[in-house]
Formats: sequence, C-alpha cells, structure tokens
Amino acid sequence: MTIKFTDVNVFYNRKSPFEYLALKNINTTFEAGKFYGLIGHTGSGKSTLIQTMNGLILPSSGTVETDGVVLQKKTKQKIIHQAKAKVGMVFQFPEHQLFESTVLKDVMFGPMNMGVSEEAAREKACYYLELLNVHESLLEKSPFELSGGQMRKVAIAGILAMEPSILILDEPTAGLDPVSHDETMQLFYDVYKKIGITVILITHDMNDVLEFTDEVKVMAEGQLAGEGETADILTDSHFMTQYNLEVPHVIQLVQDLYEKGIVLNGTPKNTAEFIELYEDWRQNNA
Ligand SMILES: Nc1ncnc2c1ncn2[C@@H]1O[C@H](COP(=O)(O)OP(=O)(O)OP(=O)(O)O)[C@@H](O)[C@H]1O
Ligand SMILES: [Mg+2]
Repeated sequence: MTIKFTDVNVFYNRKSPFEYLALKNINTTFEAGKFYGLIGHTGSGKSTLIQTMNGLILPSSGTVETDGVVLQKKTKQKIIHQAKAKVGMVFQFPEHQLFESTVLKDVMFGPMNMGVSEEAAREKACYYLELLNVHESLLEKSPFELSGGQMRKVAIAGILAMEPSILILDEPTAGLDPVSHDETMQLFYDVYKKIGITVILITHDMNDVLEFTDEVKVMAEGQLAGEGETADILTDSHFMTQYNLEVPHVIQLVQDLYEKGIVLNGTPKNTAEFIELYEDWRQNNA
C-alpha cells in the first residue's frame, strides 16, 4: 500500500484576497510498512499535506493516490469516503474524542459506522483492545472512569478497529509530560511492530524522529525540502540548521565528541545506544 503525490498544489482561500499557496508542487511517495517522520518548521505545510491523504483537503491541482483511490480537485464524496477508510488519524489528546457509554461501544463505533456488522465490530474491538493491553475487565466501564493513559489506549484502539492502511500521528505527544510522552511513543511503536501498518509521525521532537522512524520527509514553506533515511538527514547539521530543525541530543553529543577527537563507531538512535557506543570507545582507548 503506497501513497503517491503527483504535482500536488493546495491553495487556501482560493480566489479571495487571503489566497495562500500552502503546498507547492509536491511529488513524493510513502511506501507500505515504513515508519515515516514528517518534519519541518511551524507553518511549513505538514498538517496540510497529511489532510490531503484522507480527503479532508482536496488538491487544488495534482493527485494523491492511496491504494488505487485517486483524490483530486473535484473528487466525489463517495471516493473521498473510500480514502477516509484507508487513513487513520490521531491528533493531540485523542482521548478527548471518546464519547460512548462503555469502552467496548466506543471502540465498536468506528467499524459499525463504516457498515461492519455488530458482531464483527465487537470482534475487531476486542482484538485491538487486547493488542493495546486494555484489560477485559474494563470493557463495560465508562471510558471516563479510566486513567489518562488507558483512555488514550481506548481511543487509539478505536482508530485501529477501522483497520486503516496508514496511521497518521499529528503531534500526538504535544503537551504531554515526559513520562506520558515516552509511554505514548512506545505504544505507537509497539502497534507499528505488531501490525506492520504504515505510520507517518508529525512532530517537532527530533529525538523521537531519530529513535522511531525509518525515513523522513522535510517540509519548508509548502515545498518538499528533502527526504531520505532518517539517520542520513538528522546527522546533516548543515541541512538541519538551514531548515530551523534541532539536531537530536545524542547526535549533537556525537558531533561534540568528534570535535574533541573521540570518534564513536556508529550512529546511536537513543541515549542507551549512545552510552553503549561510548563504552566501546572507552574500552578500546583506555
Ligand atoms: N484553514 C486554513 N486557511 C488558511 N490558511 C491556512 C489554513 N490552515 C493552514 N493555513 C496556512 O497554511 C500554512 C501551512 O499550515 P500547516 O498547518 O499545514 O503547517 P504545519 O507545518 O502543520 O505547522 P505546525 O508545525 O505549526 O503545525 C501556514 O502558513 C498556515 O497558516
Ligand atoms: Mg501542523
């Protein structure tokens, strides 16, 4: 399942004094089964880009093709509906979208709304709740009686129960404390590993991008400024600075050590890997 952007332009407020070209000639592909980081300075067009994937925004010109479903300027509602079913979107604080009287009903709502039978929806709901380690004893409880972390899992199970081909996370950890931040990222990574879904993570946290993603796409002023393997892009401090992006902490450390003549044997993805590489260096140079 790939998502292919061909010559995509998006105007906001077309033909008004406030007309604004938010996406400029985007040509790129997201391949199936990879974990992508979509990064770029504030206002660069990241959220606009992902909203064209499920038809929340239609291209002003060009096409966005997902699994054979083509979205373009005058695409009909019926087709938009098909595209929506392929894309699961998680925004900040997904738990704020819970509304049903029980956990089970909340997770069943999405699939039933898509025309799945009650029995099949129950099966899917139970499957995804279990995948996210939501205990069976909670199924008949009100979601509002749960802890924040459990509520978030229920909300995410509700999105996964619709069995999208792509999971889009638009700043899912913004506003969370450090512990919830780490738990939430680990949760998404576990889901990715377990069901092999394509994931696109939008974030300003370059440490998360380094740790969790395979590839990144970089937006700047509505254009695609760069794309490639995560480690290649995030270690290019000239490129990162040019686009106002922070170099991840461990990469900064590696570069500071390099200037002092300490050359580690590899690129760490997180603090634990950094410590390991540094220990290796120490043992070889003691
Ligand atoms: N509904 C809208 N109407 C008019 N302009 C908009 C609208 N939504 C976004 N824009 C403008 O389009 C540009 C791209 O916005 P977008 O939200 O895609 O950026 P972003 O990269 O997601 O930024 P952030 O990191 O702040 O979330 C910005 O200049 C923004 O002001
Ligand atoms: Mg945004």
